[in-house]
Amino acid sequence: MGRIRKVVFPIAGLGTRMLPATKVLPKEMLPVVDKPVVQYAVEEAAAAGCELFVFVTGRGKALIEDHFDRAFELFETLRRKQREEDLGELERAIPAAGSLVYTRQQAPLGLGHAVWCARHIVGDEPFAVVLVDDLIHARVPCLKQLVDAHAETGANIVAVMEVPKEHTDRYGIVVPGRERGRLVEIEGFVEKPKPEEAPSRLAVVGRYVLSGRIFELLAKTKPGSGGEIQLTDAMAALLEEQPFFGLRFEGRRFDCGDRLGYLEAVIAFALERPELAAGLHAALRRFL
Ligand code: G1P
Repeated sequence: MGRIRKVVFPIAGLGTRMLPATKVLPKEMLPVVDKPVVQYAVEEAAAAGCELFVFVTGRGKALIEDHFDRAFELFETLRRKQREEDLGELERAIPAAGSLVYTRQQAPLGLGHAVWCARHIVGDEPFAVVLVDDLIHARVPCLKQLVDAHAETGANIVAVMEVPKEHTDRYGIVVPGRERGRLVEIEGFVEKPKPEEAPSRLAVVGRYVLSGRIFELLAKTKPGSGGEIQLTDAMAALLEEQPFFGLRFEGRRFDCGDRLGYLEAVIAFALERPELAAGLHAALRRFL
């Protein structure tokens, strides 16, 4: 089974749940501690072995391109001030020249349509999709866990986790089949079912390893939930043709597109930082 070389980040979404912060600032640029959410996603994909980073962007997202570029004046200033450590960190955050690709989703037609916009860049090979809003804190980066499961099974893999019954209408929900360790055979997908209609509480979170065949299926996918072209619906067609597993990944997921999820992420990631942990603990105790 081939390696996963390419990763697609659909980042055209408007981020209306985080207004007014996201009126001008792309939601992917919101900092978790001191790093934009999108940088965590790129680091995770690089740690999983990805070498080509494909961003499906939209209007107002140009700051993200700037973030992954050299900032000449800033770098020169840091060099002059001999702030080698800061400089090194900024350098390391920039993927190799030529490994970033940006294309635009010209209309908000849904996640499936956004992924389809990357078809000519990805071509006919298995690839990864990372939803940047879903920030996952894990010992082994979540996408690496999926890539390893793909290497072992040769199958399509999505990250899954149990969600409360009353939240099934926020996610793609899986019709689960046989379990094999952390892998669950998937027999069906339903996008955002009402709790009373949900086939399980097992939800898809934003990490996918998919075969290139998905692009042909996306081209035929009709608008579904919310009137949008859903990746979930194309995956439901794909599992009729190819093996498909959910991976109960190890780690904690934060929805950074949501106010509470975002705040939790900031606290969880800050508590991991030795230079911040003690001070933050004390401050939290004072508030509570
Ligand atoms: C998208 C997918 C959904 C998935 C979710 C994970 O929904 O359509 O299947 O469960 O991401 O975060 P969105 O959050 O974009 O509405």
